[in-house]
Amino acid sequence: MAPMEDVTDQAFRLLCKEFGASMVYSEFVSADALIRSVNRSLEKIRVDDRERPVAIQIYGRDVESMVEAARIVESEASPDILDINFGCPVKKVAGKGAGAGMLKTPQLMLNITREVVKAVKIPVTVKTRLGWDHQNKIIVELAEQLQDCGIEALTIHGRTRSQMYQGEADWTLIGQVKANPRIHIPIIGNGDICTAEQAADAFDRYGVDAIMIGRATFGQPWLFKDVRTYLDTNKHDDTMTLDWKMDVLKRQVRTSVAYSLREDNALKECKRTELGGIIHVRRHLANCPLFKGIPDFRQTRVKILRAETQEELFELLDEARNRIMDFENN
Ligand SMILES: Cc1cc2nc3c(=O)[nH]c(=O)nc-3n(C[C@H](O)[C@H](O)[C@H](O)COP(=O)(O)O)c2cc1C
Repeated sequence: MAPMEDVTDQAFRLLCKEFGASMVYSEFVSADALIRSVNRSLEKIRVDDRERPVAIQIYGRDVESMVEAARIVESEASPDILDINFGCPVKKVAGKGAGAGMLKTPQLMLNITREVVKAVKIPVTVKTRLGWDHQNKIIVELAEQLQDCGIEALTIHGRTRSQMYQGEADWTLIGQVKANPRIHIPIIGNGDICTAEQAADAFDRYGVDAIMIGRATFGQPWLFKDVRTYLDTNKHDDTMTLDWKMDVLKRQVRTSVAYSLREDNALKECKRTELGGIIHVRRHLANCPLFKGIPDFRQTRVKILRAETQEELFELLDEARNRIMDFENN
């Protein structure tokens, strides 16, 4: 499962792990905030043994802070992997030279990578994009250079920074990196995988060692189960009934609320409430693919996005289930 800020907290990671994600990633953690012991960052690097293998991802803009943050992650959390984010396109990160901003300063990117690899004993990996923009798709050469810094795997999201999340992910350069005879580290392909068929196709066409799935997990954490079954048997997982899926969504609500209410939760005050957990989970539910194509579902979706209690959400999920059944029976 892909790292996603405000999405892949421990509760969601454990759920996806249970449904077959081979590896899960934390939300990205700011190196500077971690060094300052900001509560939210300390919360993000907390790892539960049940989610292993798990990667903690950090981002930052200079060698010293990245090395220090890497050491903190290793000593405080002992994740299986330390991942470096050189792919985040948002202005407050890339605009300051971190994340995908490093695609403009590849020498600094390589220095950070080399020094972080030297500073910790756990494996270090990198996640990045094709390049800064259409004219600067540097990934094929960059992949070799990153490998030479000692990283143990590379994830490539098939877009440039300029594309943000627009257009379609272009996997051809991911395939070229993988086909490069000099590359011996695992290459993880990422971008726009939404179905088991697309997952299988990515392996077949581009030869990648693994795929990373992000947005398609919204409202269907069971996607990993289907992908896994499909990769193994070429058939979809037909054991997952509608009622089973609705129960999973209710469980997701419960775990999100429980996670938000944890006594040792270091998250900011407003999240330490039932509402914190509800706010976190409701956009997942509103995006659930099961609700696509149901006539006049908009009102229900809006109600889901405005719900403030578990009971409200459970009632709306029951209503949604009945609407799906009616639709399928007609
Ligand atoms: C809400 C959201 C938050 C994200 N946060 C991160 C992050 O913290 N670190 C990171 O490397 N990528 C982050 N990404 C990018 C995803 O990991 C992934 O590269 C991207 O969504 C493309 O994959 P997909 O098409 O499967 O979603 C984020 C994406 C979304 C939609």
